[in-house]
Amino acid sequence: MESVRDLDWDPARAAAFLERAAGLWRTFLEQLPTLPVARSWRPGEVRDAVAINVPEEPLAEVELFEHVRSVMFDHSVYPGHPRFMGYVTGAGTIPGAVADLLASALNQNLGGWRHSPAATEIELHLTKWFAARFGLPKTAGGMITSGGSMATFTSLKVARDRRAGWDVRQRGLREGARMVLYASTESHAVVRRAADMLGLGMDAVRPVAVDAAFRMRAGGLRDTIVADRLAGLQPFAVVATAGTTATGAIDPLPEIAGICREEGLWLHVDAAYGGAAVLADDLRPRLRGIEHADSIAFDPHKWMSTPHPGGCVLLRDLADAFDSFHLAASYTVEHRERTGGTFDFGSHGPQWSRAFTAFKIWLSLLAHGAGPYGRRISHEAALARRMGELVVQHEELELATPVSLSVCCFRYVPAGLAPDAAGREAYLDHLNERIMTEVQVDGRAYCSNALLRRRFFLRACIVNFRTEEPDVRALVDVVIEIGRRLDDEMRPAARGPAVAP
Ligand SMILES: Cc1ncc(COP(=O)(O)O)c(C=O)c1O
Repeated sequence: MESVRDLDWDPARAAAFLERAAGLWRTFLEQLPTLPVARSWRPGEVRDAVAINVPEEPLAEVELFEHVRSVMFDHSVYPGHPRFMGYVTGAGTIPGAVADLLASALNQNLGGWRHSPAATEIELHLTKWFAARFGLPKTAGGMITSGGSMATFTSLKVARDRRAGWDVRQRGLREGARMVLYASTESHAVVRRAADMLGLGMDAVRPVAVDAAFRMRAGGLRDTIVADRLAGLQPFAVVATAGTTATGAIDPLPEIAGICREEGLWLHVDAAYGGAAVLADDLRPRLRGIEHADSIAFDPHKWMSTPHPGGCVLLRDLADAFDSFHLAASYTVEHRERTGGTFDFGSHGPQWSRAFTAFKIWLSLLAHGAGPYGRRISHEAALARRMGELVVQHEELELATPVSLSVCCFRYVPAGLAPDAAGREAYLDHLNERIMTEVQVDGRAYCSNALLRRRFFLRACIVNFRTEEPDVRALVDVVIEIGRRLDDEMRPAARGPAVAP
């Protein structure tokens, strides 16, 4: 039979292809600080430019790399830009990008140890290293996930199975009382989605009020649990957040852990964003109490800046994951004495086949070292505090809440807008929403928003190792410039009363 080798490039061709790609990457890194962070594209413009037809025959290399260039340079937003401060999206480490390439070159499937020995051992070792940093015991370990969403889902699946009191995996939820869990009103929406995916329903997430600093009220948690038990519900877990998305608030972990212990509830800590603080000497004490967690969601692709995707779930006892996820499949017969196999990730989480996602986190840590990582994370928190000072110093800006971790929430308040002007708050919401949109398409800097006590604030989240003080100042200046312009347009009599939108 004649061979068909179209897809099998020889090593020289592979290397030449990579060299061209590496050239583009180098240019990208050189130009990144001068590129617009984002732009305003006309509807359909990006689709028309990049959603090209799949060719029947190979695209000429010149054409192919022109396509890649257009994706990279003309039609993307850059989370790695020093002035990107929107969302909890890291910059993407350089060793991490190379590791992704090499991981794809090796193309390991981490479903089973026997076909991914080194990769499995690295992921086990890396997640145990993270677990130890959080103060979890030796039984602890975890998995790299697609992100905080899957880490939360995986944790709550294990919690549901461990705490139901019957074989919920086999028999489903109808066997017992209605299971409920607790999370603050500032917790991330993925908690509710996990409840949905677990068949508990989103209403099973009982909201707990927060204090003035957006932290869960431990007293409120206790009261809600008592009331729910009286109503015949079955509380099984509490989700505490260590670093809320909106403001970086850290729930009172020691108190919540105490309540969980007394009530026999599973403690899950969503440290998807704030967990990286464990690497920084000055921030680590703020996570005190996290060592009591039964499970932790922690996303290296956020504040550790490793490329997407790469979250992490940590369990106090990794064996619980096996009990929650193991399934036998007839085609996976193995003689472990001969293969050397010890641990199969495919039996410990929702995925069967798995990528070597851990490699980019691992190589980033090896290449940068834990110490410099910690110092940089500490610096980013300091930059956010600096931004808070700049906001407080400027009479047209208002700080929403003291800076916690590396988020600064603030709003533009035009000069001459009387504190008691009719429709003032609604006007400020509308104005700041428009400012955010204009900043996002302006290209000089980028921020997102937070809704705090139902008011609209601008939000800068600094999780980017390229951001420095001039970048923070630039965002503040752009907000003021755009704020003044929009206020002039929206309040025609510039010093007149506010008008409700
Ligand atoms: C606190 C928190 N938890 C969970 C998530 C969801 O994580 P992911 O987007 O990685 O799934 C986020 C995302 O920003 C977050 O900030």
